[in-house]
Amino acid sequence: MRKPIVAGNWKMHNTVQESIALAKYIKDGIAGTEKTEIVLAPPFTALYSVSAVIKDTKISLASQNIFYEDKGAYTGEVAPGMIKDAGCTYAIIGHSERRKYFYERDEDVNLKVKKALATGLTPIVCVGETEEERVKDVTEFVVGVQVKKALFEINSLNNIVIAYEPVWAIGTGKVATPMEAEEVHRFIRGVLSEMYGSASTDIRILYGGSVTPENVGELIDMEDIDGALVGGASLKPDTFLGIIRKVSEKK
Ligand code: PGA
Repeated sequence: MRKPIVAGNWKMHNTVQESIALAKYIKDGIAGTEKTEIVLAPPFTALYSVSAVIKDTKISLASQNIFYEDKGAYTGEVAPGMIKDAGCTYAIIGHSERRKYFYERDEDVNLKVKKALATGLTPIVCVGETEEERVKDVTEFVVGVQVKKALFEINSLNNIVIAYEPVWAIGTGKVATPMEAEEVHRFIRGVLSEMYGSASTDIRILYGGSVTPENVGELIDMEDIDGALVGGASLKPDTFLGIIRKVSEKK
């Protein structure tokens, strides 16, 4: 059984006080959702404060990025050990916004995944095709390469989560249909099965891109979709709680 995850990626939103308030609201509203794992990814500046709010709850903390060195002269970067020290157990890696605006390559993603694992953080590795790539019908090729390169030289799928996020669906209100998403999730599981054999049946693969309480039910009904990575809707407390509840009812 793969326990579903609903993760909220707050991106570059919320002050420390706003983050504390949002985390408290979520914490107070999750009764009855025991079947679902919840992960919050506030901005770096609020990680430590939010970790205090969610202490002794089932909510986990994630960073939205990490660097792949332990320490050193890397102005502006944050080491995995620092993230862990601030209370994180997860790290989102290779989000399409990092790839697009900060030129993260698959090689960087791979170094970050390796370092996250070595530090005891669970990476949430993001992959996904652009609209142009989907139109050209190269989605599987693109996503396959991203998955293989992200996991290069990684021996086990233990403590790894994948997020399939079609770039054209992120922040656009244009969600993938459940079948479109399921097809890619199944494809990813197939790629992982070639690489890791039967271990691929246990890895959780989340869908991300314009997830709402209205569309998450159909998505989560799909066999290979194990939860959601939520951006915009995770900033609205009742909407995010609505997504968590829907997933808990379904899986
Ligand atoms: P969105 O973002 O839910 O706002 O589309 C998803 C993501 O970027 O993880």
